[in-house]
Amino acid sequence: MCGIIGYIGIKPEEILYQGLERLEYRGYDSSGMTIQRDNDFVTYKSIGDVKKIKNQIVFKDEFGIGIAHTRWATHGKININNCHPHFSSNGNIALVHNGIIENYEELKEQLIKKGKKFEGETDSEVIAKLFENKLDINDIRRVKKKIKGSYALAIISKTSNCIYFAKNKSPLYIGIGENLAIIASDPTCFVGYTDNYITLDDNQYGRFSQKEIVIYDKDDKIVSIKPTKLDFKYLYEDRAGYEHYMIKEIYQSRLVLENIIEKYRTFEIKEKLKQIKSFEFDRIYLIGCGTAYHAGLIGQHYMREEFNIDIFSEIASEVKYKNLNIDEKSLCIFISQSGETADTLSALEYCREKGGKIISITNAEHSSISRHADINLPIYAGQEKAVASTKAYFAQCIVLYILTCFLKGKDYITPLYYFKRQIDFGDDNEIKLLSEYLSKYDKVFFIGRGVDYISALEASLKLKEITYIFSTAQPSGELKHGIIALIDENIPVIVIATDEELFSKTLNNSYEIKARGGKLILFTSLNIDNEIKENFSYIIKINKTQKEFMPLQVILQLQKLAYFTAKDRGNDPDMPRNLAKSVTVE
Ligand code: F6R
Repeated sequence: MCGIIGYIGIKPEEILYQGLERLEYRGYDSSGMTIQRDNDFVTYKSIGDVKKIKNQIVFKDEFGIGIAHTRWATHGKININNCHPHFSSNGNIALVHNGIIENYEELKEQLIKKGKKFEGETDSEVIAKLFENKLDINDIRRVKKKIKGSYALAIISKTSNCIYFAKNKSPLYIGIGENLAIIASDPTCFVGYTDNYITLDDNQYGRFSQKEIVIYDKDDKIVSIKPTKLDFKYLYEDRAGYEHYMIKEIYQSRLVLENIIEKYRTFEIKEKLKQIKSFEFDRIYLIGCGTAYHAGLIGQHYMREEFNIDIFSEIASEVKYKNLNIDEKSLCIFISQSGETADTLSALEYCREKGGKIISITNAEHSSISRHADINLPIYAGQEKAVASTKAYFAQCIVLYILTCFLKGKDYITPLYYFKRQIDFGDDNEIKLLSEYLSKYDKVFFIGRGVDYISALEASLKLKEITYIFSTAQPSGELKHGIIALIDENIPVIVIATDEELFSKTLNNSYEIKARGGKLILFTSLNIDNEIKENFSYIIKINKTQKEFMPLQVILQLQKLAYFTAKDRGNDPDMPRNLAKSVTVE
């Protein structure tokens, strides 16, 4: 993962630091910055989130050239030696890198034999050590030929008046303004400074100064530059009085639904939906990672209710290894909040090669996945800052519901209006009581049947990623085929039951847990009598709504449960350990 930024102009420290804040979603293990002025470097490095580096930085109003980096560790521990920027052996050249160099071990061995010394363990430092005394475009070409893998690179030297760059399979954009130029992993870094930017393609490289940009393609030919207008805002989303972004974002779900209703009645979006409908397909694949994969499962559930064709949902990182029957008759739908997830992008390229029609559902219209798709359906969730995805999951499911209805020729606006009125965020005090109870356990299981099992999967992911409590989700009928061996009085089991027809079976499975000492907690929209109630330590009642929206109604409260439990355990729910918001390595 990692985020990189480079800048030429006045106030480099301020602009680079602000860029780091905007890129922090890509990793927050450490951050670093190098500024070149008067043929010398000043470098700042710090472990932890980007706020930690702020106190070290001496902010100056003068002109300067700088690069900065926020890290999500892949190779090497989280320490200062592994923190970017990395330097050439003589210290004259500094570099920041996002991506993974696949042949770094081989290159490192060769460099060590030549007498080069390494300070840390990263693959990125190997690129820096491939540079010698000088830095010009030929050095970029030479180094580019040696490295294999994914990279977005920004490189400066003590004496040059420009920033060099190279890109392959990691996103990189250049913003061009009056007397300034910025290169970054995400164009949100340009907002407020310039409206014009260039999206770099794979294998492109070059240099830019304040006055000139030169980009070369893979055949070393100069590329003509066609800047695009920034058509989005970087809305600095503050917490609006909430303690964390995550809880604010859960509560934004109603607003997100309003946005989607408004946008999905416009001509522009309807044209996109019509185009999808016009494709000839006899199979649908829904593909994503983590929470986006779970949204795909919900989409599959919706579509299987309506269509008599094969509909599959797949984990993106597995797509290439499953011999899936993908061809021109396959509609491949890629779901990704960030639009940059490497596994999803790589699965997309694979499906494209196989001839599939490519649709994306993203929250970032400028992202790599959106750009590589034939048609992108935006989810209009607004920036999601907390690492754990909440409102984006909600929005992805809604867009999949709309797509299903549109393909089937059904009205989606009226049901969504009704749902908007019925959204139920539950009672904080009730959820807080339960979270206090759960926070003392080190294992929590979730069970459900049918669509409730999908909610169990998503609730379990949310809980484990921010509370660090071990958690698994099982279809309730599957328990007795092995997992029940783990049940004892130290395992609370959360039962999700919103489907009337499946309730009695789920209830029986719950009693099997109870008989073995497990503690039962019920999330349900069904009316249950007192005799049943007695079996559960806690019951959270969910307001009923149209059955298609029940998984969304129930997830809102389960997201809140994860949030409050993380808080009770003293964790920062917005920035869980070891994770990053955008996963740009396979
Ligand atoms: C979990 C979570 C992750 C993401 C996954 C895919 O809360 O956020 O599981 O859903 O990394 O990310 P996107 O949707 O950006 O492709």
